[in-house]
Amino acid sequence: MGNIGAERFLPAELNLPALADAARRCQGCDLYRNATQTVFGEGVPDARFMLVGEQPGDQEDRRGAPFVGPAGRMLDRALEEAGIDREAVYLTNAVKHFKFEPRGGRRIHQRPTAAEIGACRPWLEAEMLLVDPDVTIVMGATAARALLGPSFRVTRHRGEPVPRRDGAYYVATIHPSAILRAPDRDTAYAGFLADLRAAAAIT
Ligand code: URA
Ligand code: SF4
Repeated sequence: MGNIGAERFLPAELNLPALADAARRCQGCDLYRNATQTVFGEGVPDARFMLVGEQPGDQEDRRGAPFVGPAGRMLDRALEEAGIDREAVYLTNAVKHFKFEPRGGRRIHQRPTAAEIGACRPWLEAEMLLVDPDVTIVMGATAARALLGPSFRVTRHRGEPVPRRDGAYYVATIHPSAILRAPDRDTAYAGFLADLRAAAAIT
């Protein structure tokens, strides 16, 4: 079917439970075909902080919840150190289905394309509208493309508040799984933590 987009799968009534339920049936792009299930956002409906990642990973795909695998553990640790309560945030991804390539019995993560990010964006936009967080932490290039556009450079503008609406900001940073891949994990982690602290300091 290709990338027809998620728009036509949105529920008539916009609230988070209806949205999450409708997203289970989304066929807005081809990623639903091979994934186990839709992994929708989760958390506090009126959270001050919303965190946006790329897409569910292997464990998220199996369990149906965002950030419950290795990247999630990295994120948990940094949130705690930055003084942001994981129980008080809303967590989601730019793309709601796991994209992977089978290789030797394993499922290797693949980056979503610009078309897939665009196809899935109606879900993210609806979440943003309903949660309306004061601070949206944009983790990695995929989330940045979805929310800040293709010309935004995370490396150049990470940790900086970018106005979203009156009194609400985006703060971009690296993806927590980039820390796991970094040659120097300590430095990568320290940079991630500094960005989260900058986000937490926004008043
Ligand atoms: N990486 C993401 O971007 N999101 C998840 O939910 C898990 C890993
Ligand atoms: Fe729909 Fe997004 Fe899944 Fe594509 S990735 S099928 S647009 S929920």
